Amino acid sequence: MAAFRFLTAGESHGPTLGVTIEGVPAGLELTADDLVIDLARRQRGYGRGARQAIETDRAEIVSGVRHGRTLGSPILLLVRNRDFENWTKVMQVEPLTDEEAAAMEEAVAGGDKRATPVTRVRPGHADLAGALKYGHSDVRNVLERASARETAARVAAAGVARRFLSELGIEVWSFTAEVGGVALDPANASRSREETEASPLRCPDPDAEARMIARIDEARSNGDTVGGVFEVVAQGVPIGLGSYVHWDRRLDGQLAAAVMSINIVKGVEFGLGFEQTRRFGSAVHDVIEGRGDAGRWIHRSNNAGGLTAGVSNGEPIVVRGAVKPISTLARPLPSADLITGEPVEKAHYERSDISVVPAAGVVGEAMVLLTLARAVLEKTGGDSMDEVRESMARLRERLARPVPAPTVGSKRAVAVAASSPEDIKTGDGVFGSGGDD
Ligand SMILES: Cc1cc2nc3c(=O)[nH]c(=O)nc-3n(C[C@H](O)[C@H](O)[C@H](O)COP(=O)(O)O)c2cc1C
Repeated sequence: MAAFRFLTAGESHGPTLGVTIEGVPAGLELTADDLVIDLARRQRGYGRGARQAIETDRAEIVSGVRHGRTLGSPILLLVRNRDFENWTKVMQVEPLTDEEAAAMEEAVAGGDKRATPVTRVRPGHADLAGALKYGHSDVRNVLERASARETAARVAAAGVARRFLSELGIEVWSFTAEVGGVALDPANASRSREETEASPLRCPDPDAEARMIARIDEARSNGDTVGGVFEVVAQGVPIGLGSYVHWDRRLDGQLAAAVMSINIVKGVEFGLGFEQTRRFGSAVHDVIEGRGDAGRWIHRSNNAGGLTAGVSNGEPIVVRGAVKPISTLARPLPSADLITGEPVEKAHYERSDISVVPAAGVVGEAMVLLTLARAVLEKTGGDSMDEVRESMARLRERLARPVPAPTVGSKRAVAVAASSPEDIKTGDGVFGSGGDD
């Protein structure tokens, strides 16, 4: 069983979101204030809709923490939906009484959009597949959970993972790399991290950001939406998280699944990503320079994005998520009605974002933080922070030490130079020159 895991609950307009996190070691200092910043960062960004003006997300720590320190027991966090007060009857948990049901019918007859069942399924959203899968006639039952409001619970959980990882020298950040086909120019990424955080799209390149904003404005004035790309960077990850020995232990696979699980992400890349397929190997692979200061292994570049063979290689982990345009359009696409099966001119519309790349980046950070926390605990073990810290310090110390000479049988080999310079040139080593399979 995984040492560290989490599970969220809650509907978009229900009373509250919740998340249980299991496997956080005892003795980690944690308060609700530690979780506030990322929740606020998830709500910001040019192109977001009116919902964010209603919510001021704050996670309440309900269990697993005493006197500001984790107990090692499951942590339960709640994030209240302030908007619930506008949806109390529509999202009521208890069955409706006859009077309440009659009042609801009256509201529908009077054109109350919230109370009216949703049947004109939106292209690109969970509506059709979700309703048919679970046998719902009202798409409200689908969209309430499929909504990315759920990612607020993930971000709250990731605040705990961030506290945990920061104790071990691991830090995770993200920025907006592209919106609507406008990409940042790394040569023009002049903003500091603080300046980037304060900017409307959390983009380090001010010129590109201005053009990205113009694309969002263009989408808004056309009743349309627009996507983009975020980039998440994890610093301080030691060599050796993940493994190549089984498919499901590869850290690249775990991170890709985690980032791909974000409602709206349609592609994931590491480092140079798909660009690698267009270059020769000599222009892709990161030359290993040898050891530098304090025994640290140095690569000349980081095209692999910090992961080789599913194992962290000591370079920053660089993951990008491709964000599709939001599927709820102010000028809705044609669609069909779930009940009649007949075409309709316009799909359902309800208050929606126009572009969410910076917010999706914060959710991307969250999924990377949660995945790294699990990978770290798998490597270090430990029920208390003291045990984890000691184990991580031992790992970093071993990685900094010289690697012992290899042994042949029970004897230390005297020289490693079994290959002549000529062998190296041709690729013919002592083990032959065949491929791997
Ligand atoms: C931060 C964030 C905010 C989102 N806001 C909206 C929104 O306002 N309207 C909408 O239709 N989709 C929104 N989405 C995307 C949908 O939740 C998502 O497209 C939908 O659940 C279907 O999942 P899929 O895109 O992975 O196929 C948002 C996603 C994120 C990450």
